[in-house]
Amino acid sequence: MYLARFPRVRICHAPTPLEPMLRLSKLLGGPHLWIKRDDCTGLATGGNKNRKLEFLLGEAIAAGADTLITCGAVQSNHVRQTAAAAAKFGLGCVGLLEEKVLVNEPDYREGGNVLLDRIYGLRIETVPEGTEMDAALEDCAERLRGQGRHPYIIPVGGSTTTGALGYAAVAMELLSQFNETGLQNARVVHATGSGGTQAGLVAGFETLGAGIRVLGISVGSERAAQEEKVMALAEATAARLGGTGHIRREAVEVDSDHVGQAYGIPTAEMAEAVTLLARTEGILLDPVYTGKAMAGLIARVRAGAFSPEENVVFLHTGGQVGLFGYRAFLTGAMA
Ligand SMILES: Cc1ncc(COP(=O)(O)O)c(C=O)c1O
Repeated sequence: MYLARFPRVRICHAPTPLEPMLRLSKLLGGPHLWIKRDDCTGLATGGNKNRKLEFLLGEAIAAGADTLITCGAVQSNHVRQTAAAAAKFGLGCVGLLEEKVLVNEPDYREGGNVLLDRIYGLRIETVPEGTEMDAALEDCAERLRGQGRHPYIIPVGGSTTTGALGYAAVAMELLSQFNETGLQNARVVHATGSGGTQAGLVAGFETLGAGIRVLGISVGSERAAQEEKVMALAEATAARLGGTGHIRREAVEVDSDHVGQAYGIPTAEMAEAVTLLARTEGILLDPVYTGKAMAGLIARVRAGAFSPEENVVFLHTGGQVGLFGYRAFLTGAMA
């Protein structure tokens, strides 16, 4: 897998650590649980989007762009990391924030990621729920072109084949850590949303012929729809990586039983997972993605879904800044 063929900037503190979760494994009495610390990728307090942004900014800069345009929910981690990356490379940045989560508290609307967006100098444009985001991004680009700017659009979550290359790179990084550690029977579990993280990992592992199972815990879409979306992006990403571009259907696995009411709406099991990780491992999860994904992993361990000799690696994709947007719910859940 020859990733140096693609334009890339360096943003991430990598390789990120792969650490055993000894106290959590013991408490749950399950398989060997590990955590891959992609919450520690550096820029903007870290997170998975920095991986994608290395290739997305590489492409934007190679194309002569001077402004990035992206979008997400109000508490988007992706938008926050994009704003920081734009600042680091001297680019302008516009973020379209969709008011699609029914949390109408000052902490949610202005705290957490939104505070950091403002500190990074992001130009925020708020759009109503249900806005057709691809069209809104294109409209914004058109306006900027009219002002003589050269915009580069990063669609929701940075989940294009270019963004997914960042997680093909992580597949290589993980494989080399598994080899160094002598880790056998490894499988990976993580939060899946716009799908680029899972698609990149699957495309990377499949291209490398690693045979490592990846399970995405959905934070929004229902299982069949999410698997279809990830499969299509994994195939397109694998095609860019070279080789046959073939992805085995069974390589794309999604569990959508832990979304709760909807994307971004907190759940009691998320709050349990957040506090459990904090109190056993000292690690912070987030309320929208990793908290729900860890709740899914814990439920599977409790249901006996893994054999004791398996090494289950939870890919921590970041997002802790979002905790501050959900202060009222989390405080209530701990009372
Ligand atoms: C913290 C966190 N975890 C996971 C994800 C999901 O990644 P993807 O959109 O690549 O599926 C996101 C996406 O915004 C995120 O912010």
